[in-house]
Amino acid sequence: MSFSAAKGMGPAPDEGPPLLPPEFLIERPRRLRRTPALRRLVRETQLSRDDFILPLFVVEGSSVRQEVSSMPGVFRESVDKLAETCREAEQLGIPGVILFGVPETKDSEGRAAWSTDGIVQRALERIERASPGLVRIADLCFCEYTDHGHCGVLDDQHDVDNDATLENLELQAISLSDAGAQIVAPSGMMDGMVASIRAALDEARHDQVSILSYAVKYASAFYGPFRDAAGSTPAFGDRATYQMDPANVREALKEAALDVDQGADMLMVKPAMPYLDVLRRVKDKVDVPVCAYQVSGEYAMILAAAQNGWIDRERAMRESLTCIKRAGADFILTYFARDMARLLKA
Ligand code: PBG
Repeated sequence: MSFSAAKGMGPAPDEGPPLLPPEFLIERPRRLRRTPALRRLVRETQLSRDDFILPLFVVEGSSVRQEVSSMPGVFRESVDKLAETCREAEQLGIPGVILFGVPETKDSEGRAAWSTDGIVQRALERIERASPGLVRIADLCFCEYTDHGHCGVLDDQHDVDNDATLENLELQAISLSDAGAQIVAPSGMMDGMVASIRAALDEARHDQVSILSYAVKYASAFYGPFRDAAGSTPAFGDRATYQMDPANVREALKEAALDVDQGADMLMVKPAMPYLDVLRRVKDKVDVPVCAYQVSGEYAMILAAAQNGWIDRERAMRESLTCIKRAGADFILTYFARDMARLLKA
């Protein structure tokens, strides 16, 4: 029977009269939405405190806690304050944190990134003592450490020199693992970065440190507030020769496959909300955990709209995270981690 017949609009000319009364044939999916309990029963995606990683920014000094102007509720903290935040995160049941360093000195290569008493190195040691149960993830990149703000060493053309940058990434990975990182997360989108970091870690007896590769990272406008927080805006040009073109998905699948082949333990897709199709396709393709990074601009948009009274902050937060999980994220890096964990605890 045709749809128009089922809807009681009368039979198509060659079909004769309907065999059953039309109301009998209308599909009624609303049946399962009638009460809150029914909806809970059939809900496919549930957020849990286990789903979140909290990104943190660490600065020099003591008792420092500066709010990032474009990210209300997000702070740049000195190691002592960061340790308090980590304790709170642990008490809220968040499994882990990812650290970004904002060093005092920058140079053309970003040497502070692999200094034994670097800012992230000290933070990792402190967290290991204060909150040993938290998973400690260290971001590996140079944009916060270079005076030009690019994610590696520059060549004569002012482009990032891939292979020279790999050597520094190895140094950074070893240094941060020495300091207690359990996961290193290379975010610079250099070719071959996973293989070279894996080999360097293994040789330095860090075979238990895992690699969470930012395998699929787009050249995105949504990183703006992060660059305010980390002081990592490129002094010239952009990151389009290493980060991916937002228009593309084929190369996302290629990057993901390459990184798994090179030994990545987990992959990341970043940003999250505008790239849910990419997340789903990567998730379907690989057999390692895949996470998504709900980045600074995604957070800032929700906060800004909420501050204007244009959107409900709590509902938008919950919906955005639920949808990222539904699209395939095994876990989510989000500046909402603590707020969401508090809600789920209640
Ligand atoms: C460093 C890095 C960036 C982010 C995480 N690691 C920024 C960039 O590529 O400029 C962005 C995270 C965010 O926006 O929240 N390469």
